[in-house]
Amino acid sequence: MEFLTLVTAILFGLLSSSRLITAQVVDDHAILLEIAKEFSLSSWNVNQSDFCSWPGVGCSSNQSMVERLDLSRHGLQGNVTLISELRALKWLDLSSNNFHGSIPQAFGNLSLLEVLDLSFNKFESSVPVELGRLKNLRSLNLSNNYLSGVIPDELEGLEKLQEFQIYTNRLNGSIPRWVGNLTNLRSFTAYENGLSGNIPDNLGSVSELQLLNLHSNQLEGPVPESIFAMEKLEVLVLTQNKLTGSIPPSVGNCKGLSSIRIGNNELIGNIPREIGNITGLTYFEADNNNLSGEIVSEFAQCSNLTLLNLASNGFSGIIPPEFGQLSNLQELILSGNSLFGEIPITVLTCKNLNKLDLSSNRLNGTIPQEICSTSRLQYLLLSQNFVRGEIPHEIGNCIKLLELQMGSNYMTGSIPPEIGHMKNLQIALNLSFNHLRGLLPQELGRLDKLVALDLSNNQLSGNIPAALKGMLSLIEVDFSNNQLTGPIPTFVPFQKSPNSSFFGNKALCGEPLSPSCGNSNGSGNVNYHHKVSYRIILAVIGSGLAVFASVTVVVLLYMMRERQEEAAKGGVTADDETTGKPVIIAGNVFIENLRQAIDFDAAVKATMKESNKLSIGTFSTVYRADMPSGMILSVKKLRSMDRTLIHHQSKMIREVERLSKLTHANLIRPIGFIIYEDVALLLHQYYPNGTLAEFLHESSKKHEYKPDWPTRLSIAIGVAEGLAFLHHVAIIHLDISSGNVLLDSNFNPLVGEIEISKLLDPSRGTASISAVAGSFGYIPPEYAYTMQVTAPGNVYSYGVVLLEILTTRLPVDEEFGEGVDLVKWVQGAPLRGETPEQILDAKLSTVSFAWRKEMLAALKVALLCTDSTPAKRPKMKKVVEMLQEITE
Ligand SMILES: *[C@@H]1O[C@H](CO)[C@@H](O)[C@H](O)[C@H]1NC(C)=O
Ligand SMILES: *[C@@H]1O[C@H](CO)[C@@H](O)[C@H](O)[C@H]1NC(C)=O
Ligand SMILES: *[C@@H]1O[C@H](CO)[C@@H](O)[C@H](O)[C@H]1NC(C)=O
Ligand SMILES: *[C@@H]1O[C@H](CO)[C@@H](O)[C@H](O)[C@H]1NC(C)=O
Ligand SMILES: *[C@@H]1O[C@H](CO)[C@@H](O)[C@H](O)[C@H]1NC(C)=O
Ligand SMILES: *[C@@H]1O[C@H](CO)[C@@H](O)[C@H](O)[C@H]1NC(C)=O
Ligand SMILES: *[C@@H]1O[C@H](CO)[C@@H](O)[C@H](O)[C@H]1NC(C)=O
Ligand SMILES: *[C@@H]1O[C@H](CO)[C@@H](O)[C@H](O)[C@H]1NC(C)=O
Ligand SMILES: *[C@@H]1O[C@H](CO)[C@@H](O)[C@H](O)[C@H]1NC(C)=O
Repeated sequence: MEFLTLVTAILFGLLSSSRLITAQVVDDHAILLEIAKEFSLSSWNVNQSDFCSWPGVGCSSNQSMVERLDLSRHGLQGNVTLISELRALKWLDLSSNNFHGSIPQAFGNLSLLEVLDLSFNKFESSVPVELGRLKNLRSLNLSNNYLSGVIPDELEGLEKLQEFQIYTNRLNGSIPRWVGNLTNLRSFTAYENGLSGNIPDNLGSVSELQLLNLHSNQLEGPVPESIFAMEKLEVLVLTQNKLTGSIPPSVGNCKGLSSIRIGNNELIGNIPREIGNITGLTYFEADNNNLSGEIVSEFAQCSNLTLLNLASNGFSGIIPPEFGQLSNLQELILSGNSLFGEIPITVLTCKNLNKLDLSSNRLNGTIPQEICSTSRLQYLLLSQNFVRGEIPHEIGNCIKLLELQMGSNYMTGSIPPEIGHMKNLQIALNLSFNHLRGLLPQELGRLDKLVALDLSNNQLSGNIPAALKGMLSLIEVDFSNNQLTGPIPTFVPFQKSPNSSFFGNKALCGEPLSPSCGNSNGSGNVNYHHKVSYRIILAVIGSGLAVFASVTVVVLLYMMRERQEEAAKGGVTADDETTGKPVIIAGNVFIENLRQAIDFDAAVKATMKESNKLSIGTFSTVYRADMPSGMILSVKKLRSMDRTLIHHQSKMIREVERLSKLTHANLIRPIGFIIYEDVALLLHQYYPNGTLAEFLHESSKKHEYKPDWPTRLSIAIGVAEGLAFLHHVAIIHLDISSGNVLLDSNFNPLVGEIEISKLLDPSRGTASISAVAGSFGYIPPEYAYTMQVTAPGNVYSYGVVLLEILTTRLPVDEEFGEGVDLVKWVQGAPLRGETPEQILDAKLSTVSFAWRKEMLAALKVALLCTDSTPAKRPKMKKVVEMLQEITE
């Protein structure tokens, strides 16, 4: 009897449990159907009962329960609580969507969960304590949300956690001690929050911590020794906190450290000599602290060191000559310390050195003849020291230099004529506040890219040579407080300077100091004054672009760091030497039904072949890429990426993704992206009809010249509409030109290069980007002075495109004459006694009376757009209206 009961009980138990399971099976299917409905998931074929094959769904081996759910990057919003009913889930990725509200407490019921990624959403309020019940969690990623409150102590139960990412939220309170008790923790990132208090002194003590990134918080107290205890650390980022105390010598135990960034804290003491034990160190940044003592020569053992930044500390002593061994060193930044002695010759010969900033120290040596014997140097910043002696003739070897700052030193002798060899000098040449004497060399006039020249406060004598008029890019000059004599040459940048730029000289005369030099022939000056040479403006902007290009080094370093972080996070390792194939770090196709057709490797390969090159833009090069599927892509390779703007790759990816959703018939949007090594590729549809520039100016190649004004007008309206839409969504285009307008098979125009405008968003204002302003001939005159990209600036550039359409002429052309561009040429027509008809493309305007009338109306709009006063230019929306009215 008892036996029977037992059997029955067992049987019943089995039955009921199998019934339970069956119920669960039905449930998971039913829940997925509800999820599909809630999130409007069109990619799930809900009629197909085999839900395990739906995209993003992974099932248990017996195909009955959902174990994996990947709904990342779908732009989803809605009630995520539903998902918590998929009780067998082990892996849940909801990253990069638009989910908002609180993280559901019910997620705490997903007890089998090993990976939970909710990053890049808009989740708000506090982290639910229920997550602490997810005992099996290995990876928790809550970063890039709006989470607030403290990191709850209840999460202490997450003993298996290996990766813990909570960066870029609004968390406060301190880092709980239990994080230090996580024995499996490999990566912990909590940067960009409001965390305060000490870093727990047990952090990393029992785990194999590889990546610790806590930058931009309010953390105080010392850098705990514990983080070096297990000797596995690879990347340490603590920048921008309030950390005190000194750098523990045990840092030297971490042989695998590649990047240490501890700048902008309140650290004191010496840099431990053990730093030399970290032979793989590539990046050491400890600027803006209170560190002191000597700069340890042991850095020289870190043969891969690429950047060393110890600026704005209290270091004294000499610059170790051993640094000459650092053959990979690109940037050595030691400004704002108390270093003395010589500028070591060995350092100057580091063959990859790009930037040497020793300004604001007490260096009391001379400038060695070996200067620039390696010619990579672009920035040589030595101002505010006690440098003595003459400027060596060898300065002429510095042909790559963009900026030379030697102001406020004790240099003697004269300015060597070889200075004119530094043809790339653009940003500044500053020799002010020294003891230089003698004549100004004529050769200065060869520095035609130089924007700022400061020779003030020396004992220079003689005339200002007329040859200095060769400095076509000059906008800032200062010759004050010297012994100069004679007339100031008639040269716009001189006369445009404040008269203080010429004060304190022995006997200078003429504008801007005095109207004339007595008997002068200066009446012509006034006229010349107004003819601000457009060339100058162009050149200035050109220099700006070079400045931009030169931030590349830093960017590369930054990307490198990102890669190391990725690697440390357990992601893809950056090496695939065996195949020689670049390793794709990240990539995505935003359009579901194109995913199959696009092959990342083929796209990358296409960009390596010269013959695939379609065009070279200001910021990018475009390649044609034929996919194995037969699809043709246009692949844009970004030339360089700004470190501060693209704060990290993920943000950039998010930006691109957002742009992919900007739908307007006249805008080209990205359909995907690929990141490999330090390169970012943006994928676009391929438009075989080429660019508007080709259509207008290369009629022989792709297009036969057809006098077709209506097509041109509709192109003009389309471009205007695209730009009006961009302005409507608060995006300022950085590079409007006919070369960035593509034509589809119906000659519908599509404005491109929008990503650049967004990725390098100038409204976020950084020095490196404010100077970037687009293509020659399209740059509004005010950019030269304001260095600020604006909506009215866009209107100007659009006006140039419209003029191109009307005149079939290039924006800059030798034919217009010296310093005259298309805008000036058109504006100058009345003065030359030409009628507007003589400006328009006669092949079009003579076809019919109606066309001519419309073209004249469009010309009026173009002139409004290119008004030299930004405020007088119409808004883009108004431009669209005016153009549409033309045909009505
Ligand atoms: C699914 O079935 C419904 C009703 O039977 C039908 O209207 C719908 O078109 C089907 N959807 C797909 C994708 O087959
Ligand atoms: C299917 O597998 C899951 C776990 O993998 C298990 O919990 C469940 O009992 C299995 N169901 C059946 C019907 O075997
Ligand atoms: C979200 O779904 C859950 C059930 O999964 C339900 O209890 C809850 O009320 C829903 N919340 C909202 C705001 O609809
Ligand atoms: C978690 O599951 C338990 C038991 O099934 C249930 O009582 C509770 O309501 C669930 N919690 C949430 C937040 O859904
Ligand atoms: C979240 O963090 C995990 C673990 O580090 C990582 O694998 C994943 O890629 C991250 N998610 C996103 C969207 O970056
Ligand atoms: C961390 O672990 C230590 C040693 O096992 C234990 O004494 C301590 O209570 C733990 N601390 C926390 C906050 O869990
Ligand atoms: C580590 O650095 C110290 C100080 O420079 C040195 O004395 C020691 O020999 C180094 N240890 C190793 C293993 O290189
Ligand atoms: C320096 O970098 C190279 C290339 O990344 C690497 O192969 C080498 O091991 C590194 N050297 C040290 C000492 O870590
Ligand atoms: C440079 O300054 C240091 C420290 O003040 C001093 O010892 C040294 O003699 C000076 N060298 C020269 C050449 O003046």
